Amino acid sequence: MHITDSIEGFFQLMGGDFTNAGSASGELKSTLTKLGVSQDVIRRAAIAAFEAEMNVIIHAVAGTMHYSIGSEELKITLTDMGPGIEDIELAMREGYSTAPDWVREMGWGAGMGLPNIKRNSDNLKIDSVVGEGTTLEIIISIRIIAIRKD
Ligand SMILES: Nc1ncnc2c1ncn2[C@@H]1O[C@H](COP(=O)(O)OP(=O)(O)OP(=O)(O)O)[C@@H](O)[C@H]1O
Ligand SMILES: [Mg+2]
Repeated sequence: MHITDSIEGFFQLMGGDFTNAGSASGELKSTLTKLGVSQDVIRRAAIAAFEAEMNVIIHAVAGTMHYSIGSEELKITLTDMGPGIEDIELAMREGYSTAPDWVREMGWGAGMGLPNIKRNSDNLKIDSVVGEGTTLEIIISIRIIAIRKD
């Protein structure tokens, strides 16, 4: 057993695919639960990953989610092809949303996703190019004694 090994997962996300919404973040949550990671880390990771997954489904055309669980930290990376974010500072504000009415009718578009991701992560990096897409890197610190890979 090597304590430096990490456990990884990779998912494809499709814009508008509300049927499968939450399956990527749900799988991450169950993996963390199986590993015996603390409840606090599981809760924060589940919230951050779910909001980020929803943002790809709501705002982008297509994307991917990748996670890597190491002994020190959990890293969740989401990359999408989509409209990108013109003003990241503005997008980070609570209540700011460009979600269309049909999305709001489903209960989304409160403009709380990004602030929620920020609150529940130890480090959040957003890179975006307008007209091309967005990348989010979410870091959550964890402390696992050892990861078994058997
Ligand atoms: N992956 C993305 N691609 C393009 N724009 C995005 C993306 N993620 C967020 N945004 C932009 O940032 C805004 C704020 O995002 P945030 O997640 O905070 O709110 P929301 O998705 O509109 O509503 P909520 O998350 O509460 O359902 C969005 O309305 C959108 O304009
Ligand atoms: Mg959102």
